[in-house]
Amino acid sequence: MSTSELHVQRLAHALGAEVAGIDLSRPLDADVVKEIRDLFHEHQVLFFRDQHIDDVAHRDFAVHFGPLQRFAFLSPVSESVPEVHAIDIDPTKPKTANSDIWHSDATFLARPPLGSMLRAVILPDVGGDTLWASMYAAYDALSSRMQRLLDGMTAVHDSSNSVSHARNAVNADFQPTSHPVVRTHPVTGRKALFVNKIFTTRIEGLTDRENDALLPMLTDHVRSPDFQVRFRWEPGSIALWDNRCTQHYAVADYASRRRMHRVVIDGDEPV
Ligand code: SIN
Repeated sequence: MSTSELHVQRLAHALGAEVAGIDLSRPLDADVVKEIRDLFHEHQVLFFRDQHIDDVAHRDFAVHFGPLQRFAFLSPVSESVPEVHAIDIDPTKPKTANSDIWHSDATFLARPPLGSMLRAVILPDVGGDTLWASMYAAYDALSSRMQRLLDGMTAVHDSSNSVSHARNAVNADFQPTSHPVVRTHPVTGRKALFVNKIFTTRIEGLTDRENDALLPMLTDHVRSPDFQVRFRWEPGSIALWDNRCTQHYAVADYASRRRMHRVVIDGDEPV
């Protein structure tokens, strides 16, 4: 497949593009992979439709973006493809995930994931969309005075607020870790706000009172629709996002089972 066959449609101003003209069930030429990697860095989250692929093809596509994790916090769907795990939610049962809180994945790790790739497997009749927000746009929208205050600050990230991660993290002895509040993307060089509601527990060097005023303001800043794109899943839909400069939110407005398969791409560097 030559690069010219790809068709790219932006879905929002801040981030997100749908890529058509590609068949992810087949091996991809190096020039196509390069083009998709460039699109990934440009648009932060890419969407693919009508890709009825299995777990092996899912893994084989994601590995073009970096080594995959055997994600320690969710069970693999099978021992033959241990990199793929399920986020399977039955809304009639007790809550097993915090995906309906804005977050980037596993920022409590010393090297948080570079990105993730999510595939729809079972969808409710209606609802269950996912939103992504550009943390470049969130940073850019802050006043220059606030940007100057935050540049150089660090914050603690901890798994203990997450219903799905906390117990496994405790078992594996994961300690809270510290990351810059503003991170610079290693490929684009752009600055992104890097605090989130699930895992960021405090900004270092502030009094309790200062932290209690500033941290919620920053973690809530992501809620502005100006920074967001919303994706409606269909059978065969896939999303691939950059965890270094986006957050996401799975809308929990559905009444029947929703099962997604996901792979997590290893962090490329400490933040
Ligand atoms: C996630 O939080 O990684 C999953 C998002 C979703 O299920 O839509």
